[in-house]
Amino acid sequence: MSGPRRPLLAGNWKMYKTTAEAGRLARDVRAGLGDALAGRDVVLAPPFTSLLAVAEAVRGSGIGLAGQNVHPEVEGAFTGEVSPVMLKDAGCSHVILGHSERRQMFGETDEGVAKKALAALAYGLTPIVCVGETLTERESSRTMEVVERQTERALRALSADQVVATVLAYEPVWAIGTGKVATPAQAEEVHAFIRRLVDRSHGEAAARGLRILYGGSVKPDNIGALMAQADIDGALVGGASLKADSFLQIVHYPKA
Ligand code: PGA
Repeated sequence: MSGPRRPLLAGNWKMYKTTAEAGRLARDVRAGLGDALAGRDVVLAPPFTSLLAVAEAVRGSGIGLAGQNVHPEVEGAFTGEVSPVMLKDAGCSHVILGHSERRQMFGETDEGVAKKALAALAYGLTPIVCVGETLTERESSRTMEVVERQTERALRALSADQVVATVLAYEPVWAIGTGKVATPAQAEEVHAFIRRLVDRSHGEAAARGLRILYGGSVKPDNIGALMAQADIDGALVGGASLKADSFLQIVHYPKA
């Protein structure tokens, strides 16, 4: 069970969906939620171009909206970037930061993620900070070292209250989009480790309050076992969030 922490199920739509498709998917998710939001937080992260369409579709429903990246400055000559103020203006409540695809393909660094997290919090956006090891790192027994470095650097400049207002997502890179999900025990080991790190750096209340999501090939048939782990507070879902049916099954995972 997830203790005092409210479960959060987030759909990362990556670079999928036109505005019309995104609006339709968001409306279908909304229609299928029923009373799920009574006990759970649901967040949708479409591409920037579809934020307004999804904001419109979920208005008044309690469903959260996330950007998939943000620039730390408010405005300026930064061609191709979007600011925290712009995300707020488009209706966002959350922003995904440091996804492994951004780290691996777009040069995102731990320092950049830390700056973005501070900027997001300053403008009232909840950062969803992604951490996780590659296959090579896991196979050379460096998982904890990598996760410790990424977590420590992302949270270093944050106060204990800001840590509680942040969400972490543990996403082993080898499990993303591969159909190879971490076992509940593998995921729990890292989640518990992250919580101990936060206990050491920001104190017990921050460690108890911080929500840590698991991500990497989450599907309707594995969400229940993952959510039954003590330190897994939700999921960041890629592929299975692109269809209303599978995402809704994940959101409605049986209560443990
Ligand atoms: P996946 O993606 O569920 O398709 O593995 C997860 C993610 O990248 O956040």
